[in-house]
Amino acid sequence: RQQVTTPRLARTAAELHGPPRNGRRAVVMTMGALHEGHATLIRTARELVGADGQVVVTVFVNPLQFGAGEDLERYPRTLDADLAVAEKAGADVVFAPAADEVYPGGEPQVRITAGPMGERLEGAFRPGHFDGVLTVVAKLLHLTLPDVALFGQKDAQQLALIRRMVRDLNFPVEIVAVPTVREDDGLALSSRNRYLSDADRASALELSRALLAAHNVVELGPGAVRHAAHVVLHAAAQLTPPVDLDYLALVDPADFTEVPDDFTGEAVLAVAAKVGTTRLIDNMPLVFGAF
Ligand code: PAJ
Repeated sequence: RQQVTTPRLARTAAELHGPPRNGRRAVVMTMGALHEGHATLIRTARELVGADGQVVVTVFVNPLQFGAGEDLERYPRTLDADLAVAEKAGADVVFAPAADEVYPGGEPQVRITAGPMGERLEGAFRPGHFDGVLTVVAKLLHLTLPDVALFGQKDAQQLALIRRMVRDLNFPVEIVAVPTVREDDGLALSSRNRYLSDADRASALELSRALLAAHNVVELGPGAVRHAAHVVLHAAAQLTPPVDLDYLALVDPADFTEVPDDFTGEAVLAVAAKVGTTRLIDNMPLVFGAF
């Protein structure tokens, strides 16, 4: 009979920290429904810590970061498939705690506040979302005690806020960013893509097309970049189903404020829209030279 090797499944922090370990520990935090984007984070984690290191994947659908009327109940939960994906990508342990392991006192009274950066863009459309993200990320860092934690550029504002939290609150962990993984046609991989019908998906493709159109005129500066993306998104609003834009913004990745038209340096073009009943985000890092 063939030996099936899945990564060890830990339900509590005590199980997670069982045997002594050599080398560095890397953590990849997820809400499960693992796809090739998550797998890329796990593979990058393995490359970073080597064979002697330990790669921990956390799977926890964090109620604190979902607002009223968001998709907490219908968020996909696929632990068996997640174990297989994690194993194939090189994880040693999958930490899938129950809610009372992460929130032993029920709803936490003491929380992390994301501050002004947490109220911009995504934060304006999802009030309290980033407080919930940072609170659980802080808790999962404490539960897993990694040397390095990896996060995707796909969630650019989340990544920026985690970097800021680690700096502002002196968390002893290195944060590593991993570029966005896309389908061949450009659609950014997301656990929420499984909600899309074929027609939704065709419309959703306009998000990455807008970002690509913007990227193609980066030498012309921020004004041209914004315009190029808006042209694509304006047309996309006429499709069936329409791309219903929440925001398009060209921002400084350090604080997520809009950059001026004469900006030089690294920026992020971030977009969010609803397609059918699904809300999607995407972004493209851009570098503006002097022009
Ligand atoms: P989740 O959406 O499951 O994403 C887990 C990690 O995978 C995040 O760092 C995210 O940026 C990254 N990721 C998702 N899609 C990606 C893609 N297409 N390419 C590259 N990376 C991608 O983000 C969360 O969960 C939660 O907010 C969490 C941080 C786990 C806190 O609950």
